[in-house]
Amino acid sequence: MSSATAASKKGDEKHLYTVVVLGASGDLAKKKTFPALFGLYKNKYLDQNTHIIGYARTKMDRSTFEEHVSMNIKLKTDEDKAAHKKFLKLCSYQSGQYDQDSDFKRLEDAIREVEKASGATARLFYMALPPSVFISVAKGLKKNNYTEDSLVRLIVEKPFGMDLDSSRELAKDLGSLFSEDEIYRIDHYLGKEMVKNLMILRFANVIFGSVWNRHTIDNVQITFKEKLGTEGRGGYFDEFGIIRDVMQNHMLQILTLVAMEPPVSLGAEDVRDEKVKVLRFIPPIVKDDILLGQYGKSEDGKEPGYLDDKTVPKDSKTPTYAAATLFIENERWSGVPFVMKCGKALDQQKTEIRIQFKDVAGHLFTTLSRNEIVIRVQPDEAVYVKMMNKEPGLGTKTIISDLDLSYSSRFSDSVIPEAYESLILDVLNGDHSNFVRDDELDAAWKIFTPILKQIDNGEIDPIPYAHSSRGPKGVTEFVAKYGYTRERQEYVWPQHSEAGSAAGKDQK
Ligand code: BG6
Repeated sequence: MSSATAASKKGDEKHLYTVVVLGASGDLAKKKTFPALFGLYKNKYLDQNTHIIGYARTKMDRSTFEEHVSMNIKLKTDEDKAAHKKFLKLCSYQSGQYDQDSDFKRLEDAIREVEKASGATARLFYMALPPSVFISVAKGLKKNNYTEDSLVRLIVEKPFGMDLDSSRELAKDLGSLFSEDEIYRIDHYLGKEMVKNLMILRFANVIFGSVWNRHTIDNVQITFKEKLGTEGRGGYFDEFGIIRDVMQNHMLQILTLVAMEPPVSLGAEDVRDEKVKVLRFIPPIVKDDILLGQYGKSEDGKEPGYLDDKTVPKDSKTPTYAAATLFIENERWSGVPFVMKCGKALDQQKTEIRIQFKDVAGHLFTTLSRNEIVIRVQPDEAVYVKMMNKEPGLGTKTIISDLDLSYSSRFSDSVIPEAYESLILDVLNGDHSNFVRDDELDAAWKIFTPILKQIDNGEIDPIPYAHSSRGPKGVTEFVAKYGYTRERQEYVWPQHSEAGSAAGKDQK
């Protein structure tokens, strides 16, 4: 039986896993992987007998490892503290090289030992690794830690290559070792609550579903803003830039879910078929449809500029901000610009989707603002619909208002899970729907590779902007060029909550 068939057969049953975190001493493992595993353990989504083995090159004693695992775990209650104590007992660490069979063999001994104790029948390898060691680790695992007797699942993290060619190369190498069934390419935005809500908003509401097309929608904006610069990650970032870091993956995934046709079912392949289809309708981005920026010092001089980072070359032209417009050449979307904007070192942290409708036809009212549906991914999850209303009182003056579904007030008792918790749980359950398929990745790279080549060749200069500002000059004009029309009256969102202070304003 091929390993792929074995895996899918075994996937039908419930399994007890041994989790191996490769790159366990790194930032990602510390910030995301271990806290997510703990979250699942604490809430009993992870079998209470699941062992977790950390593996990395760094030598660490037990207490340093425990500190590393725990650094980003928040313990609010006594129950949390008790669970954390038990969780640590299930975690162990082993240092080893990423290209030595003898080290992977020692890892195998450790896995077998915990499997004997726990009775685990499945292995989850979490690759929280830099791209340079990716394939050598995959080879080491396949040769030394892969067994036909147990179910094997492999989580891989971006970057999945630098462009179409390198991504294909990586896919080929990885594909020769593990089957597509065994591979889970993580894009953690697919685990975010509001991103997961997109299909429900669209396909479970007649009032939204019926207007979701070029006849009523004028333009769509997807925005990702971060306050932090690239502090501490300059070296990595300089090789990639903001388009490869955020736009080609996180933002494009959001766009795909906003734009795809309804899938035949909620099954992973049906969903991913539709995602691939919509990506294939998008021609590569052209130079006229892109604007780049790079941050300098803040206006008060307190925050450093991108080039002040010692790990960044002094003459780097790597963009830390990008706005790009995509068009989807299909029946539903032809002519509707999808504007994606993303940047680091900006005035606020925010990810949102803003769908702006066309102007109302006719002449009954003046100073009408356009309807918008805004889906705020983070922070302060919300969906609000901007609409015109009669100003209460005598007369018939129109006023802009909203239907506001702010999660903090509507779902105040609900806990929103961390994206990584939700995605790791999907892997344990063998659900691929929120993971990137190989052909999806290929289609995504086709859209970006030509423009990335031009950027890498230094053909497009980034416009400087100050750290903590709204971004490079020209962004407002860029967005207006694609039809985005600002309100014709004063509007603030949200109206009544504390979040209605400056940070919560409906700032585009
Ligand atoms: C990562 C990028 O994939 O996503 C980072 O590499 C970025 O540069 C991060 O900061 C954003 O994730 P989140 O969940 O904090 O919005």
